[in-house]
Amino acid sequence: MSGSDYSFSTFSKNEFYSQLNARLVDMAEVGSDLRVVDLACGTGGVTRLILERINRTRDTVVIALDHSQTALKAAMEDLKDISGNAVRYVQSGVENVSEAVKDSVDTVVFCNAIHYLPDKDRVVHDISAALRTGGKFAFNTSFYEGGQHEESSAFYSKWMFKAFRILRKEYGLKPNRAAKVESRRQLTPEEYSDLLERNGLTILKQKVDTVQVPMEGWLDISTFSDFIEGTMPGVPMNEASAALQEGIRQTYSELNVTHVPRNWLDIIAVKR
Ligand SMILES: C[S@@+](CC[C@H](N)C(=O)[O-])C[C@H]1O[C@@H](n2cnc3c(N)ncnc32)[C@H](O)[C@@H]1O
Repeated sequence: MSGSDYSFSTFSKNEFYSQLNARLVDMAEVGSDLRVVDLACGTGGVTRLILERINRTRDTVVIALDHSQTALKAAMEDLKDISGNAVRYVQSGVENVSEAVKDSVDTVVFCNAIHYLPDKDRVVHDISAALRTGGKFAFNTSFYEGGQHEESSAFYSKWMFKAFRILRKEYGLKPNRAAKVESRRQLTPEEYSDLLERNGLTILKQKVDTVQVPMEGWLDISTFSDFIEGTMPGVPMNEASAALQEGIRQTYSELNVTHVPRNWLDIIAVKR
């Protein structure tokens, strides 16, 4: 896909995606919060959902944190119409949340990124420490043990088979297995609740939602660098993205479907 910066921005504007994040932010009830952290805020889609729901006062602060400078720049630009003085952008790894967030906060929202963390205990411990007693931690992820819907396994194998064949035939390329980012074992919902409970958090709500993902969703995730690198390690972005996209078109056409289901895990916990 030429002209793409391979950021998360295109995908994050999908309506189904913003709806599933809105559901989590609604479950966290941030309305009367003064201090909220949006961890791994990316290009600001979730930050916007928080700002739309918060009763803003002079003291309202939304801390939008991400380690990607490109993502933060896009977020700043995208949120200009709504951010006012309420957003503080922090370029940092979530591993350094205790340095980035000094005063305690009402809610920490962490959408679609907890699965990236190799040491989840350390980060959840620090998130818990950053919360006031009674403060909330809300996260969601589709990359957990169970995220792949049982009716979609044919879809994934066909998609990958076709994408790799296109990569080889059209572009004469192969992924470099040695460049593969070590894949992390995905946690089950129970392991996620144990992780929170042993770090001073009590589960308030836990829910799995099945989301119907349209073809545009997969086309757009195929323009996101993290996804491309994870699926086709070592392949140049342009070619990898094009092969993934063509693979999706062929798979949807062959399966004659308009949507493919994917499960999302939502958890809200409260600081004891
Ligand atoms: C899939 S995007 C999610 C963005 C946003 N939270 C959302 O749900 O729309 C993942 C984001 O996590 C960020 N990220 C991944 N690992 C991180 C880390 N260790 N520290 C900070 N940000 C991280 C990436 O830069 C990216 O912006």
